[in-house]
Amino acid sequence: MKIGNFEIKGYAALAPMAGVADRACRELCIEFGAAYVVTEMVSSKGLTMHDRKSDKLMLLGEKEKPAAVQIFGCDPATMAEAAKKAAATGCDAIDINMGCPAPKIAGNGGGSALMKDPELAARVTEACAKAVELPVTVKIRAGWDENSINAVHMAKLQENAGAAAITVHGRTRKQMYAPPVDLDIIRRVKQAVSVPVIGNGDIVDALSAENMYKATGCDFIMVGRGALGAPWVFTQINEYFKSGIILPDPPIEERMETMIRHIEKLCEYKGDYVGMREARKHSGWYIKGVRGAAALRQEIGALENMEQLRAVADKVITAAHCE
Ligand SMILES: Cc1cc2nc3c(=O)[nH]c(=O)nc-3n(C[C@H](O)[C@H](O)[C@H](O)COP(=O)(O)O)c2cc1C
Repeated sequence: MKIGNFEIKGYAALAPMAGVADRACRELCIEFGAAYVVTEMVSSKGLTMHDRKSDKLMLLGEKEKPAAVQIFGCDPATMAEAAKKAAATGCDAIDINMGCPAPKIAGNGGGSALMKDPELAARVTEACAKAVELPVTVKIRAGWDENSINAVHMAKLQENAGAAAITVHGRTRKQMYAPPVDLDIIRRVKQAVSVPVIGNGDIVDALSAENMYKATGCDFIMVGRGALGAPWVFTQINEYFKSGIILPDPPIEERMETMIRHIEKLCEYKGDYVGMREARKHSGWYIKGVRGAAALRQEIGALENMEQLRAVADKVITAAHCE
């Protein structure tokens, strides 16, 4: 698929996930075959006020190509300024968050609140598209709630405003993340616009990936929570589309090795203190569903160093072989 003037080669992207899909996570997903990645959302106000934390969120590694930096906010001038700063990182596109349901974001008019004001949302995109040479893309939801499903209207205005691609998370703001995802609204957006449409929501394996493509006719797909603790989901999706083979999850030894590699990267990029604290949630995802996981939750919740993480991995492997 092509967005603006760059090509995405492959079958699935990693979705932006604040506090989760950071550089370590994104790089690992790329190693496993993710064809496109988007940074965690970055505050446009933070960027224009030279907040160092916001700047850091935009840092991309060399392997992160193609990649978009995602920004959020609702003031067209501030967003345009932020888009310029984001473009200077060397990313391939600027993505605008129009879906975040968090009160901290939507309560200030950004994220999913823009679904309630499609004209303002269009002005935001127009301002950003005029400010940068890079393609500007948007990520929307089905609507604000079940009484205001307006993704098609939003998408048309977005296309006119200059959006180069539109990701649709097929849920309303009110639904937050609860299933089921509405594939039909994604299909209707795809029929209504001529820019590429990226389908998102509840893709967790090869078959749900295929279903998203088939049911919606979308141009590309984006995987969020399905990649947490399971970056190999991209290998499974890629293999299925290439050969029709459904690969099983990797053996437990490989899964634990991947977990350790992920946390090593996390510590490398964020330092041991922050890295090990953030390791607690990622490790929880890696051991989800494995034998004896419940008994290890407490240990994982108190992780302080790599030795402790390796001890957890050993216990998981031993428990798996006692089956
Ligand atoms: C922890 C978490 C953080 C998220 N942060 C963002 C974000 O920063 N920007 C965004 O556009 N969407 C964000 N999302 C939404 C996801 O990108 C995606 O649209 C949603 O999870 C549905 O896809 P999934 O069912 O594959 O997870 C976040 C989701 C989760 C679970």
